[in-house]
Amino acid sequence: MSILVTGGLGYIGSHTVVELLNNNFEVVIVDDLSNSEKFILDNIEEITGKRPIFYPFDLKRKELLEQVFDAHHVEGCINFAAYKAVGESMVKPLDYYENNLFSLINVLQEFKKRNISNFIFSSSCTVYGQADEMPIDENTPLKEAESSYGKTKQMGEDILKDFSKAYHKKVCLLRYFNPIGAHPTALLGELPSGIPNNLVPYVTQTAAGIREKLSIWGDDYPTEDGTAIRDYIYVVDLAKAHVAALQKLINTENETALDIYNLGTGTGSSVLEVVKAFEVANDVNVPYQICPRREGDITIAYANADKAERELNWKSETPLEEALKTTWEWQKYLRSRDL
Ligand code: UD1
Repeated sequence: MSILVTGGLGYIGSHTVVELLNNNFEVVIVDDLSNSEKFILDNIEEITGKRPIFYPFDLKRKELLEQVFDAHHVEGCINFAAYKAVGESMVKPLDYYENNLFSLINVLQEFKKRNISNFIFSSSCTVYGQADEMPIDENTPLKEAESSYGKTKQMGEDILKDFSKAYHKKVCLLRYFNPIGAHPTALLGELPSGIPNNLVPYVTQTAAGIREKLSIWGDDYPTEDGTAIRDYIYVVDLAKAHVAALQKLINTENETALDIYNLGTGTGSSVLEVVKAFEVANDVNVPYQICPRREGDITIAYANADKAERELNWKSETPLEEALKTTWEWQKYLRSRDL
């Protein structure tokens, strides 16, 4: 069965492609390389012994997308292609709406036209904002996202809900908590583009001496050590959830199935705990300074992922320290390639 993976050379996309190939799906990747590199395709082949079909173009180019659907018997899609920098989305909102939503709609138009079902959408725990209660389950009320990036995730979810209902399509929305780590082969991971915004890439680059010091954004939160709490989920575990979600969609007879799952570990870790765990796991030092809170940050978010365990038979398996070891190995690989 052929599955279209948009953004399949990106961070979560590439790990998911590996899991799909390991489960004998054929994979067709469309990725415009705007935030990924061609060598990831070679590395996927090195890991799996299979080379996925790859088309380098922007999904806004409808005519090219049409040709992909003409050439391959696509029977499902996992949609990763999107811009994802929160801060950038506030200064370039139109680019975010255009890129993230037009590309989604173009794929959905092909699904409608050719009567294809099974669509999985990368969403985010950002749709919950600062939830009133922890842990966050799928019935936790959504709050309007603060960033344009977050709004594209909320709008994407709304588009897919309407799409499923109106055209009788099977859809799954996966709300990721904070993905971290790299492939155990150190051949896939998050690629640096400029100064990292996310915690673990910044910690890693600080340990590697690329950044002088980590800034910890606030130690006056109402948490035990005063730093903010998140749910850090290992990217390979996350990738496996996509395969489980896809298999469930394929097997369901309900033509308007709309599944929603939170994907996290169920445990919150503070910023300081992550820094310490990184130091211990990799026997390195991470210099840091305490700075004022970052605008738009919430205090605490961690998942209740019981629904995914119940219905997908999936749960996070990898401890934080182990995930942080893979990040460090990936950093060494990048250095060995001068990346
Ligand atoms: C961020 C996005 C979220 C997105 C997610 C993708 C914001 C406000 N939210 O989540 O919408 O879905 O990334 O992974 O950007 N921290 C530091 N120093 C740093 C970097 C981060 O102290 O240099 C702290 C942050 O204040 C936060 C925690 O580490 O408390 C995690 O930050 P980050 O990795 O950026 O993720 P989120 O903010 O949770």
